[in-house]
Amino acid sequence: MTLRGRGPRRGKALANLGVIKDGALLVRDGLIAAVGTRAKIEALPEAKTAEKMEMGGRVVLPGFVDSHTHLIHAASRAEEYELKIAGASYEEIARKGGGILNSVKKLRAATSEELEKRALAALKQFAAYGTTTVEAKSGYGLSVEAELKILLLHSELQAKQPIEIVSTFLGAHVVPEEFTARGAERYLSVVLEPLLREVGTSKLAEFCDVFCDRGAFTLEQTRQILEEGKRHRLTPRLHAEQLTRTGATQLAVKIGAASCDHLEQINSSDLAALGKSNTVATLLPGCDFHLGLKQYAPARKLIEAGAIVALATDYNPGTSPTMSMPMILSLACTQLRMTPAEAITAATINGAYALRREKQIGSLEVGKFADLAAFEVADYREIPYYFGMNSCWMTMKRGVVVHAAEKTNA
Ligand code: NIG
Ligand code: FE
Repeated sequence: MTLRGRGPRRGKALANLGVIKDGALLVRDGLIAAVGTRAKIEALPEAKTAEKMEMGGRVVLPGFVDSHTHLIHAASRAEEYELKIAGASYEEIARKGGGILNSVKKLRAATSEELEKRALAALKQFAAYGTTTVEAKSGYGLSVEAELKILLLHSELQAKQPIEIVSTFLGAHVVPEEFTARGAERYLSVVLEPLLREVGTSKLAEFCDVFCDRGAFTLEQTRQILEEGKRHRLTPRLHAEQLTRTGATQLAVKIGAASCDHLEQINSSDLAALGKSNTVATLLPGCDFHLGLKQYAPARKLIEAGAIVALATDYNPGTSPTMSMPMILSLACTQLRMTPAEAITAATINGAYALRREKQIGSLEVGKFADLAAFEVADYREIPYYFGMNSCWMTMKRGVVVHAAEKTNA
């Protein structure tokens, strides 16, 4: 599946996978030099001397682009999982100092070495499930020192392992505990001044994100932070309409955000605004699944409205502890009613648009990075059809194999 084509995929174009039967790729220096049928590629003079890798009739597609994760955190929140099962809501747990603040406490107490070790293990898992690019947000530090510690780790991790990391600053995740008595506005001025200035000058992030919701930041605070972020050359993206409808989606569209993510609570005017915009609508069904919520984002309506729909894991300890894009595809199919083809497009080329990397990744076309995944399935629909198991056979990043399934004894 090449996912070839022009522009972000909307509407019916979401189902165009650009399938080549008995296809082949020629890779040179980590880039795709040619793509087509096996007969055509094998006839190229350069192919005669190239090292050959046999895919054995498996399904090959672009590596998944996971455009929303909270990669760096210190520990799971399995204790809250039990509270949720017993009936406590995500917001109730957060109000009692659990939730994001629980993870902030743990992150501040952790050393960079500990955080790095956990992130490296997670990145291996992402690769094992066919993902070749992950966006990573800060947001469990919430002080100048701790936020920069996370952003610095994003860049250090890049040098230590092959999966591409796209760094996002999420200093406005929630108001940290030491500011609750002084008021949210005081923390807001820390985000607007020292934090964004340091992030801007250090160039450790490419995007600025805000959690705009009840219990987090208001619409007006969100607007201020994203505007200030823009002045520091950070492209806006945001957490929008997850628990309550705040108007964040329309702000995202107006401000030219790369994406607005979650969207469980959007209304018809939000749908219309997204349909006409280049802001990607990123859906995160793993959250609703893990939290046991019944209201998923209206994916079909978004597709009908013409929005650029993407899918991501939202890997984080509070709402979506998974690194598996295939599991997200399964949820997209059964819960969001997306077809397997639409889900695959949303997880590859449209994810690349959400990260403003559509010229480098997200499809198998000449000149793009040789980022791909091969699945041990007979038909692409089996990628989401099998769930809770891993059928990823091989993952390649820039022409290098970064995951290979264990050989089983036939
Ligand atoms: O995307 N909604 C805000 N942020 C995360 C959850 C973070 C957490 O609970 O630790 C999310 O769902
Ligand atoms: Fe998130």
